[in-house]
Amino acid sequence: MRIWKFLGWLVIAALTLWIVASCTKLGLNYASLETANKDAPEPEIAVDTLADWEAGREALKARFEEVLYGPWPEGLPVSLVSTRVADPDYAGGRARLEELLIRVGEGDGAVDFYLGLAVPKNAAPGSLGLVIGQTFSSNCSVFGSTAMSTPGGELCEKTELPWLAEYIFGEYIAEVPVEAYFDAGYAYASYYASDMVPDTPSGGPEAMAGLAMPDGRTPTGALMAWAYGYSAAIDLLEDEDWLDTSRIAVYGHSRHGKSALLAGIWDRRIDLVISHQSGFGGAALSRSHTGERLDRVQKSYPQWFEPHLGEYMDRLVELPVDQHELLALLAPTPVLIGNGRRDVWSDPNSTYRASEAASKVYRLYGETGLGAKDMADYEPGDALAYYLRPGGHGVDKRDIAAFVEFLEAHNGAGGSHRHVMATD
Ligand code: GCU
Repeated sequence: MRIWKFLGWLVIAALTLWIVASCTKLGLNYASLETANKDAPEPEIAVDTLADWEAGREALKARFEEVLYGPWPEGLPVSLVSTRVADPDYAGGRARLEELLIRVGEGDGAVDFYLGLAVPKNAAPGSLGLVIGQTFSSNCSVFGSTAMSTPGGELCEKTELPWLAEYIFGEYIAEVPVEAYFDAGYAYASYYASDMVPDTPSGGPEAMAGLAMPDGRTPTGALMAWAYGYSAAIDLLEDEDWLDTSRIAVYGHSRHGKSALLAGIWDRRIDLVISHQSGFGGAALSRSHTGERLDRVQKSYPQWFEPHLGEYMDRLVELPVDQHELLALLAPTPVLIGNGRRDVWSDPNSTYRASEAASKVYRLYGETGLGAKDMADYEPGDALAYYLRPGGHGVDKRDIAAFVEFLEAHNGAGGSHRHVMATD
């Protein structure tokens, strides 16, 4: 009897290790690099002219809101509660680090969250782009050793992640090497998504229920609510003297990469999107059976999605939309889709196929879309750039180098302002 019990525990431990290893940087499997032998994404994007695409664009956005993400919180009030200079000589004196306390919503339901903002000094007017990151971490882990605010409002010194977490998820999973962005001509801002809307099945919906838009509706999916955090930051920063408003970039990893894609679609002030390892509910195809799968993510994180999404989970093929259409909604905004070969959990293969299919719409705008030859070919200048590095789920030096390359490749001509934009 004892031996059976022991064997039972051994199986459970092995399974747990297998799941943890599969969805982290440790990744056990390799994503297939073969894409031509797989089915084309469905539903097909069946438009042949830019006019037809633009005529149907709002309806497609509405379908994603109804089925997957809940409403974009259009018109939800944004205000500045306070500003604090955290370090006037941040990064060896190169920059000024501030913290803004931002309020979204009004009355009892309003939520406040902190935005850390590092701006290189002595920048000429209109000369700096801005990367806004949405993260798993409070500003205490993002900006190095400066005292920043916890979500509760207390000051903390740098919060070190346990070395094991950094080993598994990469050295930049929480901390951001802001100077790499300064060198590329960008200021850097960051907020902790859960500081705005808690990432829990009960706390998330409760906070969202207090965020009433002018039409009385409230957001119902946390990915969409968090995406509004980027917009709130832009509302408060877009008139800054130093800002080049044609180079506003949003960045997110994993769940935040899903949210960054939504922000790029629903807020067209965003010129560049860096969405790293967004996986299911992000850039991976919902009909794919490789990796996590949409039904599993919906079950584990119901707060991220429109609650009715659950009704599709045993009939994913009937979903009226799929994620190549979501990527197409970003067109012509340049987007970088980051992947890891051993991050099969996020399904790099179907992500590539989604990017290929979405390129049709980028081409309608006169852009190449995905110009890469195959999954291993990274072309940072593509308007739909796909990047695959070795390794699993996390953020490391190679990723930062790829992000910066993408930003630099799209710098010269001034982000999306060189495109003919959709009329929304
Ligand atoms: C989980 C989840 C993924 C998500 C990831 C993350 O692994 O299942 O869908 O992308 O968390 O946010 O790190």
